Amino acid sequence: MLCLGIEGTAHTVGVGIVDDSAKVLANVYDMVRPEKGGIHPREAANHHAERVVPLIRKAADIAGVDLKDIDVVAFSQGPGLGPCLRTVATAARALALSLDVPIAGVNHCVAHLEIGRAVTGAKDPLLLYVSGGNTQVIAFARGRYRVFGETLDIGIGNMLDKFAREAGHGFPGGPILERAARDGGKLLPLPYSVKGMDVAFSGLLTAALNLLKKGERFEDLAFSLQEVAFAMLCEVTERAMAHVEKDEVLLGGGVARNRRLQEMADRMARDRGAAMFVPPGELCIDNGAMIAWTGLLMHKAGVRMSVADTIVDQRFRTDEVDVVWR
Ligand code: ATP
Ligand code: FE2
Repeated sequence: MLCLGIEGTAHTVGVGIVDDSAKVLANVYDMVRPEKGGIHPREAANHHAERVVPLIRKAADIAGVDLKDIDVVAFSQGPGLGPCLRTVATAARALALSLDVPIAGVNHCVAHLEIGRAVTGAKDPLLLYVSGGNTQVIAFARGRYRVFGETLDIGIGNMLDKFAREAGHGFPGGPILERAARDGGKLLPLPYSVKGMDVAFSGLLTAALNLLKKGERFEDLAFSLQEVAFAMLCEVTERAMAHVEKDEVLLGGGVARNRRLQEMADRMARDRGAAMFVPPGELCIDNGAMIAWTGLLMHKAGVRMSVADTIVDQRFRTDEVDVVWR
């Protein structure tokens, strides 16, 4: 059985094709790169509208399948930017109707977790989901994926991106800071902001920008931002693992590609007799394969959606999904 998934919640439009053994046959994407400033929802949606059909063709070519062989079409139903979500939903509906196959609307956050479970061998992990817009600690409990902790303001990736941009570097900032941090080593005082199970990053960003203005080196600030922000994440992750009694932690989202974060999460996990897992980079970032795989799980568990059920939801919460496939 083959599922084609379309991702398009924010910057990235992606198309993936997977089979029922979670083999990724194709996973292609294209990302909006704003020349300056942040992402513009309407511009991103126009970008996705232009790119989605060529990406569907490209994915089918790479997978070596005919679109007629696709059994299910899945798409990212939310959460995300309204215009982007509506664009990919329209593409998915059109494709499903023209192929005369079922359609599955997938929760984006759940998809990050499911692809990680499928490809890393983690069975029942707590997910530390760290991307541009999202920062959440998620675990399975009583039939649903529940959010145990999250950011109270901006996502960690947005914080890293904003810092890099204000410091005159490009986009995305996360990888730029990761490289720069290797040439830094002076731990500068930055606010460590953990509130119960939640974290906050905007104070950290402001403090780092102030220190930059005062003449501190970009490399030292990159190093310090990573150390402080990742320590905050590891603290809430560890507390959530203890609370829900999980002995696996899975990283997901674009920031999960960061080697320093991986190292710190691994250390935290091992210190408590647990294990850390991280999917390959192209499955950490927003991608179509994770949507395809989750759509396939839903379909095989009997989830069926009419076109009316495929209305997008900008604020689609992780714990709204009835996880019937587990
Ligand atoms: P979402 O819609 O889930 O919030 P997104 O559009 O932000 O996702 P992702 O592809 O999951 O997309 O993540 C992109 C983020 O990941 C960017 O903020 C980028 O700076 C960050 N990132 C990518 N690589 C690294 C890295 N090596 N270290 C730190 N951050 C990274
Ligand atoms: Fe994401």
